[in-house]
Amino acid sequence: MAEVILHIENLSKTLGKREILHNISFDTYSGEVFGFLGPNGAGKTTTIKIVAGLLTLDEGEISICGYDLRRDFERAMENVGGIVENPEFYGYLSGWENLRQYAAMRDGITDVRLREVVHMVGLDNRIHDKVSKYSLGMRQRLGVAQAMMHRPRLLILDEPTNGLDPASIKALRDILKNLAHEEGVAIMVSSHLMSEMELMCDRVGVIVNGSLQSVQPIEELIAATSPDYAEFVYHVGDAQKAEEALLGMQDVQLARGEEANTLLLTFPSHEQYTLLASVNRKLITSGISLYTVSKRENRRLEDVFIELTQKAKGGDQID
Ligand SMILES: Nc1ncnc2c1ncn2[C@@H]1O[C@H](COP(=O)(O)OP(=O)(O)OP(=O)(O)O)[C@@H](O)[C@H]1O
Ligand SMILES: [Mg+2]
Repeated sequence: MAEVILHIENLSKTLGKREILHNISFDTYSGEVFGFLGPNGAGKTTTIKIVAGLLTLDEGEISICGYDLRRDFERAMENVGGIVENPEFYGYLSGWENLRQYAAMRDGITDVRLREVVHMVGLDNRIHDKVSKYSLGMRQRLGVAQAMMHRPRLLILDEPTNGLDPASIKALRDILKNLAHEEGVAIMVSSHLMSEMELMCDRVGVIVNGSLQSVQPIEELIAATSPDYAEFVYHVGDAQKAEEALLGMQDVQLARGEEANTLLLTFPSHEQYTLLASVNRKLITSGISLYTVSKRENRRLEDVFIELTQKAKGGDQID
């Protein structure tokens, strides 16, 4: 069993007069990327700030590497690194000088370690450039280097991919996965984009209106909400003839596709492969050219997420 790095039990938080977080409990383990997913205003940043020691913990228990956040605050914090909101750097200093500044505030961080974290985030070639010349993606990676310099076991990142282009998102994703899977760091990363979580995370917790809805491996989350029917678009030589040939096949629903000479076929998911084979055979033996068959991914992850959050909100619109 992987080691529990972050343990959260019955965390609630009131800000002003509103209860922002209600009874949140979950664990994150060494070696995993844990996604904290929720719509705007769900409570992601609030939770992350509490874990990072930037907001007080009023109700509930949090421990990091076994150190209780209240009783052993400093020890708990030694094991946390994070980027909450945008990392702040001095633009007129180089990346390296910025890291040196941070290193000076902590004990025992050598230049060897700094070179290691720079390499980890792929900034070796640019580390002596001024930060003002960095792209947003590079700043974000410098932020990860800064957060990792003291070898924390838990890395927490609040929406780290905001504003990044696809190539920078991929670069960051690879760095984070590598840190978790190869170095055994527990990573907690928040996002409001399910599609991003799908590629980055091993497990995902969904938070809506301050309550945690579910925590599960990403594959389970997708499978649990996957549809009962599978849809395929057939591009054939003659749609009219194909329709006639397939008419009356059991469990096959037929409709004309949007493009010329396409048909939309719907099968029950559990027998989609058997039916695909029968349909293809029928078309070929009826002398109809079959050009392409493509599966329609009609339930993208975003839909699953919206459905989950709507359910939790009791059908309210997103605020
Ligand atoms: N200092 C505060 N006082 C009162 N309410 C606050 C305070 N900070 C945040 N909130 C409220 O707490 C709720 C959760 O905010 P939080 O920033 O944690 O959400 P989030 O999930 O990070 O959202 P986003 O995706 O927009 O970043 C929101 O309704 C917000 O208005
Ligand atoms: Mg936030």
